[in-house]
Amino acid sequence: MGQAKYVLDLQYLISKFSNRSKINRSSVMGKKIAILTAGGDCPGLNAAIRGVGKTAIVKYGMEVIGFTAGYSGLIRKDFVELDEQKLSGILTLGGTILGTSREKPFKLEKGLTHNDKPGLIKKNYEELGLDCVVCIGGNGTMKTAHLLSQEGLNVIGIPKTIDNDVFGTDLTFGFDSAVSIATEAIDRLHSTANSHQRAMVIEVMGHNAGWIALYAGIAGGGDIILIPEIEYNITKVCKTIEERFSKGKVSAIVVVAEGISKPENMSAASYLVSKIQQLTKIEARETRLGYVQRGGSPSAMDRILATRYGAFAAELIAKGKFGQMVAIHGDVLSAVPLEEVGGKLSLVDPNHLLIKKARNMGVLFGDE
Ligand code: F6P
Repeated sequence: MGQAKYVLDLQYLISKFSNRSKINRSSVMGKKIAILTAGGDCPGLNAAIRGVGKTAIVKYGMEVIGFTAGYSGLIRKDFVELDEQKLSGILTLGGTILGTSREKPFKLEKGLTHNDKPGLIKKNYEELGLDCVVCIGGNGTMKTAHLLSQEGLNVIGIPKTIDNDVFGTDLTFGFDSAVSIATEAIDRLHSTANSHQRAMVIEVMGHNAGWIALYAGIAGGGDIILIPEIEYNITKVCKTIEERFSKGKVSAIVVVAEGISKPENMSAASYLVSKIQQLTKIEARETRLGYVQRGGSPSAMDRILATRYGAFAAELIAKGKFGQMVAIHGDVLSAVPLEEVGGKLSLVDPNHLLIKKARNMGVLFGDE
């Protein structure tokens, strides 16, 4: 039995190895690819650039360039050569060595009747003799990547964002680092909240998704977690805080996602603090974590995910599989057609297992 399994495993390994070697290095050698990073930055972008670039150069003998400032560089033909030396020493760096922007080349600018940007992009792609552009970004970036692919360009997308809201993948890199940063901030709020017997409201990023609030809220032991995906009742929130204090607790930690419903002229945190002060006798303070969630060195998990995504993107290019976004489900990497991703969001399921577990432990999500 054991020996039979060993033979099977061996056969599997041999077939896997021979499949791999089917990508003939000489058939991809000399191919020229470009990388760009677009949208809001996040930890892990350089690790992904390095993953794509080094695999493309070392394994496949490709030539690699990087467009500066997202899609703006592709429009302006502004790029840098990325050789092995330029890709060295960047794994741990925050931000992106290529720069980024929120340029949307298919969006007609106000006051104009014609958009020449897609045409310029096609011209530059051809003049530079490119075989593929790797677009690293969030939802907006994937949408543009899909439109470029429809225009006939070879494109691969890599999902990144601290918000973790890209459709078609379980995870985006940047998320793990942001959760760690937010968790550390919540940890620090506990002691000052206890000392002053206060309710502390901490607002985290996430755009319209509650992933960061949910994960950091649980990791940091938040008493109340408010996310856009679950409608909250402000009276219930305030009552729960009061009840906590009347039971002898000396503080309350409220973790809130920036995207919850609130008056337009206020941040989520200031709205909650004003309501807590108004509806209870408890002193409340707000912390808006802001851009520190996006800055600095990526966590180990983000470095690994970004590296895997980057390397996998280079493998897809070598196979000539374009118009795809790299994705992860469980621990398995795959390619998802860009057309299935564009314009959609990955939001927290209100029945998410973590939410159920947290509710069972007394955490309030504002609704029950
Ligand atoms: O998408 C990442 C993100 O940090 C969101 O969490 C936030 O809402 C947004 O970007 C902020 O965007 P900007 O960098 O344009 O201020």
